[in-house]
Amino acid sequence: MSETSMSGAGAGKALRVLVLNGPNLDLLGTREPAIYGRETLGEINAGIAARAVELDVTVAFFQSNHEGALIDRLHLRDFDAAIVNAAGLTHTSVSLRDALLAVERPFVEVHLSDPATREPFRRVNFLEDIAIARFVGLHARGYTLALEELARRWAAGLIPARTRDVEALDG
Ligand code: DQA
Repeated sequence: MSETSMSGAGAGKALRVLVLNGPNLDLLGTREPAIYGRETLGEINAGIAARAVELDVTVAFFQSNHEGALIDRLHLRDFDAAIVNAAGLTHTSVSLRDALLAVERPFVEVHLSDPATREPFRRVNFLEDIAIARFVGLHARGYTLALEELARRWAAGLIPARTRDVEALDG
């Protein structure tokens, strides 16, 4: 797993977005490039980070091959909204769905490919009905579109700022 973060220009008031990537997305670049493209996750994240600076959004990145680690990261609740590519867990994980609902943060679902046009088992999706928006089949562009959608909703006052939630719940 890996975690990095960077701040937008207006740190303090900026929308805080967690970009959560699931199993095998650490292999992007060499993993089935005909389906997922040749960009590495690092390159994709660099593109998101650059757009985040322009939008004055603070982004944190987290990727794990472990379902529980992804759930533990969500439980930190140190973000206002999320961009989630749950990879194969999209099609299997009630627990990840439950975590996304439990932390009460809006999220945009992203997939590099369009799972619905692939094998039938990828049409099972535990996240799509609880995502506020979805970008699929657009490769890396889907992540920046997701960021732009969250920034638009933040500017419109549609996403609550959640700064004190952790203290309030734990204290
Ligand atoms: C994926 C699609 C999933 O079906 C698959 O298991 C992945 C990647 C995508 O980004 O296209 O690992 O989420």
